[in-house]
Amino acid sequence: MKIIGTGSALPSLAVTNEMLSVFLDTSDEWIHTRTGIFERRIISDENLKDLAVEAAQKALDEAGISGSELDYIICSNVVNYYVTPSLSCLIAGGIQAVCPCVDLNAACSGFLYGLDMAQAYIMTGKAKNILVICAEEPTRMCSWKDRNTCVLFGDGAAAAVVTQGEGFKASWITAAHRPEILYYQRPLEDCPFVKYQQRGVPMYMNGKEVFKVAVTASIQGIEHILNQTGLTADQVDYYILHQANMRIIDTVRNQLHLPAEKFPHNIERLGNTSSATIPILLDELNKSGKLKYGDTVVLSGFGAGFTAGTCLFTWTMNQ
Ligand code: COA
Repeated sequence: MKIIGTGSALPSLAVTNEMLSVFLDTSDEWIHTRTGIFERRIISDENLKDLAVEAAQKALDEAGISGSELDYIICSNVVNYYVTPSLSCLIAGGIQAVCPCVDLNAACSGFLYGLDMAQAYIMTGKAKNILVICAEEPTRMCSWKDRNTCVLFGDGAAAAVVTQGEGFKASWITAAHRPEILYYQRPLEDCPFVKYQQRGVPMYMNGKEVFKVAVTASIQGIEHILNQTGLTADQVDYYILHQANMRIIDTVRNQLHLPAEKFPHNIERLGNTSSATIPILLDELNKSGKLKYGDTVVLSGFGAGFTAGTCLFTWTMNQ
C-alpha cells in the first residue's frame, strides 16, 4: 500500500489562549508551558461534515482520482451530530462515492487503525483505492467550564487516499482496557423501561495518568516497528506523533535520543484534534514539500481506550 494524496480542512475561527482566559481560570502562560499550545481552531459557523468533504476532495484531487473510483471509505470519528448514519456515508454523498463506508472509533489512534484496516483490504485484493479520513470535533465533548480538558482540544479534518503499491512497511495497533483515565459519556434518550436514565458526562481525563500511558505506548510502538523493519531510530527521517502535548512529544524524543528536527509539530497552532492531528500534520509536510520521495516516516498515536498505533512507510510522492 502507498499514499497517493492527502488533504485537510480546518475551521476558520482561531481561538487563542488569551480568549479562553476571558471566561476560564487559566492563562496563556499555564497553557503553553504545560502543553505547547498557543491557539486552536474551533468549529463556529462550519460543520464537521463539510470540513471532512473538503479534506477528502483535496486528497482525491492530489491522487488524481474521483470519488466514484474509491472502493472503500474508512472514517475515524469519535463524535459528531449524527450518531447514524455514519459520518463516512455522509462524506460519500459529498464526494460522489458509491463504495462501502464505515466509521471507526479508536479515539486519537484512529488514523493508525484506519491505515491498518486499509492495508489489510488492499493486501487481500478486496479493494484498490481507499479513502482514510479523520474528522473530529472534540471541542463538543468537553465542558467549557473545565480548564483541565477544554484548553487542550481543537477541531479539524484530514484524509489520505491509499492504493496498491510499495510504501507501507509495517503497522502495529494495540488496545488496553483503561476506560477510567479518559472518557466521555453522551446522553441517551429516556426510555420507560430503563432503571437509571443516562444524562451524559462531559469529557473526564486523568491528565497525569494519560501522560504516562501515552509516553510508554508511543515508545513501545516505535521500538516495536523499528524491530519489525530492522531499522535504527536515526534512520527514520520524520516521526509524526499524535499532537496531544508538546511535553509528551519531547519526552518520547528524549528517550529515543533523537534531534528535534525529526519531530515536526503543529500543536502550537491547532491543539489536539483527536485522530485528525497526524493526517493534518502529514498533509502540511506533504504540501510544504518537506516530505521528500524516499523519506522514511513513522506515524504514532494513542488515545482513549487505551488505544495506540504506529506504522512505518517510505514516502512515495513528490518524486
Ligand atoms: N489553567 C490553569 N491551571 C490549570 C489548568 C488550566 N487550563 N488545568 C489544570 N490546572 C491546574 C490544576 O487544577 C492543578 O492545580 P492544583 O495544583 O491547585 O491542584 C495544576 O494546574 C496542575 O495540574 P496538573 O493536572 O498536575 O498539571 P499537569 O502538569 O499534569 O498538566 C495536562 C496537565 C493535562 C496538560 C497534562 O497532564 C497532559 O497533557 N496530560 C496528557 C493529556 C493528553 O494527552 N490527552 C489526550 C489524550 S488523546
